[in-house]
Amino acid sequence: MQIQSVQFIKSSPDLKSCPGSELPEYAFAGRSNVGKSTLLNLLVDMKNLAKTSSTPGKTRLINHYLVNDLWYLVDLPGYGFARAGKKNRDEFLINIGNYLLHRETLACLFVLLDCRHQPLENDLTFINWCGANRIPLALVFTKADKLPVTALVKNLDLYKKTLRQQWEDLPMIFTASSLRRTGREEILEYIEQCNILFNKR
Ligand code: GTP
Ligand code: MG
Repeated sequence: MQIQSVQFIKSSPDLKSCPGSELPEYAFAGRSNVGKSTLLNLLVDMKNLAKTSSTPGKTRLINHYLVNDLWYLVDLPGYGFARAGKKNRDEFLINIGNYLLHRETLACLFVLLDCRHQPLENDLTFINWCGANRIPLALVFTKADKLPVTALVKNLDLYKKTLRQQWEDLPMIFTASSLRRTGREEILEYIEQCNILFNKR
């Protein structure tokens, strides 16, 4: 899929402030610092569209970007950000949880996982919560450039094995590296397929 236009629409603190829309949207969730904003920039091929940072907790709101005037990319705040404090963490869970549960135009939620880490409790809890609530889901293993291929394959296998304890059919799985610009075509292709299904529903 070619990216012809990208437009920042708005940042929203919660679901009710999100843009009114009938277009399919694709959101990025995952632990703080996993690379959500970076992946968004890679997909649209713009280095500094979504703000990124080496310090976790950069993205604090629900950010809508309109692509090709046809679909949205949505950059979400991360979870598991230790310094956020309990009140902020609870607020996050309520706001993002509400968005994920009730955003009717959410065509797919991409849950990002750092390919270097073994399955982590809060990621598994989040993925299983999404599954239990029938949120359409795909996984993206980020920062693939940080591991040799053998270690990457090994980590992915372990992840799949862990997920199979809860999941009969695994969600779609991608790997990506913003440094090497890999994963982009595959994810865009998948979005294109999801757009077709969304428009038939
Ligand atoms: P929050 O907004 O805090 O939740 O973080 P985020 O998930 O949006 O992460 P962000 O995109 O800001 O990236 C965090 C850090 O990881 C930045 O320093 C990025 O440059 C780096 N990073 C992201 N993706 C990759 C990647 O594929 N490879 C490498 N080497 N670094 C990456
Ligand atoms: Mg971010």
